[in-house]
Amino acid sequence: MLNNYDKIANHYDTLSRLVFFKSQVNAQINQLQYIPKGSTVLIVGGGTGWILEELARVYASGLKIVYVEISAKMTALSQKRNYQDNQVEFVNLGIEDFETNITFDVILTPFLFDNFAEQRAVKVFGQLNGYLKTDGLWFLVDFSLHKTNGNWWKRLLLKSMYRFFKLLGIVEANHLVDMNPYFLKWAYQILELRLYYGGFIKAVIFKKIK
Ligand SMILES: C[S@@+](CC[C@H](N)C(=O)[O-])C[C@H]1O[C@@H](n2cnc3c(N)ncnc32)[C@H](O)[C@@H]1O
Repeated sequence: MLNNYDKIANHYDTLSRLVFFKSQVNAQINQLQYIPKGSTVLIVGGGTGWILEELARVYASGLKIVYVEISAKMTALSQKRNYQDNQVEFVNLGIEDFETNITFDVILTPFLFDNFAEQRAVKVFGQLNGYLKTDGLWFLVDFSLHKTNGNWWKRLLLKSMYRFFKLLGIVEANHLVDMNPYFLKWAYQILELRLYYGGFIKAVIFKKIK
């Protein structure tokens, strides 16, 4: 299955910390304080599930979380996490195959869209947009390249990462899709934008204003 991290589930967090130290983690943790109490939260592509323990540090109870992860191994690792008294529903499916009547207060897509070819990215954006309430928050964390001031090392690192994941036959994307235009077209407002790892990692909090 495309974009499924089963093959490296047991090593993913170590690899991430080796290359990015704690930047990928910090980019996500800093956003969690913006989650309103008692929220219904959708997490897509949460990986090994460490984010559930970080969420439990912010709220030990009262969150209703739906956790959609395409990798069975990642899902199994996530299920073992200590998420305190929050309610977590684990769904081992690609988000493309996930259907729900719930509309969420908050959606998290950490390092999800950089796996996708443009067509899938657009489709998943539309799907998730439909699952988010008006006034809801969308936490987008991804790699970022700026056409004008992109440093050579960012391009090189990104290329190497895509090569590595292609060799393993995991990731379908060959290049980053800039999701910003889709958010702006759909009337999202940027509440916060933070950069990490020399600007190579971008963490944005979008608010859906209609
Ligand atoms: C780059 S990893 C990031 C993991 C985690 N968010 C983190 O930062 O540690 C991407 C994760 O998204 C999952 N994934 C990829 N495509 C997916 C899809 N279509 N639906 C749900 N999960 C997906 C992968 O299995 C993997 O666990």
